[in-house]
Amino acid sequence: MKDSNQNGQPLDSLDEWEDDVVRRYPEEAHKAKEDFRNYEAPARDTVKEFYRINHINQTYDFVLEKKNDFLKFNRREMSLWDAVEFLNTLVDDSDPDIDLDQTQHLLQTSEAIRADGHPDWFILTGFLHDLGKVLCLFGEPQWAVVGDTFPVGCAYSDKIVYPEFFKQNPDYNNPRFNTKYGVYSPNCGLDNVQMSWGHDEYLYHIMRDYLPEEALYMIRYHSFYAQHREGAYEHLMSPHDHKMFKWVEKFNPYDLYSKAPTPPNVNELRPYYEDLAAQFLPDTLKF
Ligand SMILES: [Fe+2]
Ligand SMILES: [Fe+2]
Repeated sequence: MKDSNQNGQPLDSLDEWEDDVVRRYPEEAHKAKEDFRNYEAPARDTVKEFYRINHINQTYDFVLEKKNDFLKFNRREMSLWDAVEFLNTLVDDSDPDIDLDQTQHLLQTSEAIRADGHPDWFILTGFLHDLGKVLCLFGEPQWAVVGDTFPVGCAYSDKIVYPEFFKQNPDYNNPRFNTKYGVYSPNCGLDNVQMSWGHDEYLYHIMRDYLPEEALYMIRYHSFYAQHREGAYEHLMSPHDHKMFKWVEKFNPYDLYSKAPTPPNVNELRPYYEDLAAQFLPDTLKF
């Protein structure tokens, strides 16, 4: 393994994080609908180091700072397809023969949703759900782009992966933030809760005026495994959140388990996805 800790970018590839989520939540267990976490196989050191940096740095103030900066959307204006191609310029250090490129992951997710006969907005959501990862191309470190997400501003749940690393997060010892509810009130609703910063929250804000609420929940909370797989934050959720999380749960297996044996043909599918985008989105989006 190469020495990765120097640059604060421990993962060889962003996919390493997602591969680890699949390791934690294997498809067999999902199909069997068991409440099951795979603690057996240890994560790669790179993944553990990734979470160490993530958990130390994702504080309440950090999230507000990033939102203040990135939600100005003053970096780039692109059509959906341009954004997909831009994201695909993300070059990971891992072996390109083994890992799918970003476009393939998006298309495999959306094509699996389409094959199951879901509505157009659901297919489009699958196709664009990870576009927020362009944050990496704006110079953001991996730990502020990918990884499991979780609320900040209240106690970090021990159901979050590697909870021990939160002990070094400054909010861990701050009485304003380290109680069960922290700055929030019981069942205040997730829209009132600050989530750790990354590609999910960023893309939600880009899409919020264009897609149905179910789609926006899928985008915003797709990496919130501590809730949609572990139920760790019921105390902050409203009855409406619970209703909407059915959609997040419906989406999740397509994200994790849709690696097709034959990769989708990007050029053949492009016109279909451009038409789909035109149904819901403006010609260009601000990033
Ligand atoms: Fe994602
Ligand atoms: Fe994804």
